[in-house]
Amino acid sequence: MARKIFIAGNWKMNNTVAEAAALVEGLKARAGDVGNVDVAVCPTFTTLASVVAGLAGTPIKVGAQNVHWAASGAYTGEVSAAMLKETGVDYVIIGHSERRQYFGETDETVNQRTKAALAAGLLPIVCVGETLAEREAAKTEEVVKTQTEGGLAGLTAEQAATITVAYEPVWAIGTGKTATPEMAQEVHAFLRGVLAGMFGQAVADQIRIQYGGSMKPSNAAELLAQPDIDGGLIGGASLKADDFFGIVTSA
Ligand code: 13P
Repeated sequence: MARKIFIAGNWKMNNTVAEAAALVEGLKARAGDVGNVDVAVCPTFTTLASVVAGLAGTPIKVGAQNVHWAASGAYTGEVSAAMLKETGVDYVIIGHSERRQYFGETDETVNQRTKAALAAGLLPIVCVGETLAEREAAKTEEVVKTQTEGGLAGLTAEQAATITVAYEPVWAIGTGKTATPEMAQEVHAFLRGVLAGMFGQAVADQIRIQYGGSMKPSNAAELLAQPDIDGGLIGGASLKADDFFGIVTSA
């Protein structure tokens, strides 16, 4: 079945309110180029409300970069799913490798955050991916399988059908080293098999699997042409409207 391509920009810890407003102007100028692609940007918490307001009336959606699993309470520094929903975001990135690496995110917390996001009506983008050491030790499949099964444990098939999985090999993030289309396709196809084992083939065929890691206008088309690559999660190249839309229009 045909899955609609989904391109999302992860702004990471970049852009003040003023800088975000300037980028939103650039995105709005290109909004007519969205075509038959789902497009979203994921700014910092402090700029979510202004970006949602700025992109209102365009087909470009907004997502957050993290969410806590509790509804409220003594969790200093965290933000709940209901709070995100209130700002008008549709998506939330969960379990990015930077959160796993620097902030102790585990498959268990990814799972709790994913369930809370779904319960609040948000659409999770759940990230998985191996480090260079894991790839060199031929552990890629084992690592992404464990992350996927752990992160998505206990979801109903109906919930699973609404999520996006982002395969982001850690060694390709921000390094300029992209997985070759063949390398990425191999892992994406493997991941779809893992999803089929968890939720059945029909649901696995609906779940979009994005590639992330140094995706840019010059390499996006060949990655997105692979049968199991259904979009991209873009870091650096999402910070410039023309680079981001260079990827959107190559889809
Ligand atoms: P880069 O596109 O900067 O490599 O980042 C990828 C990423 O981590 C997106 O979440």
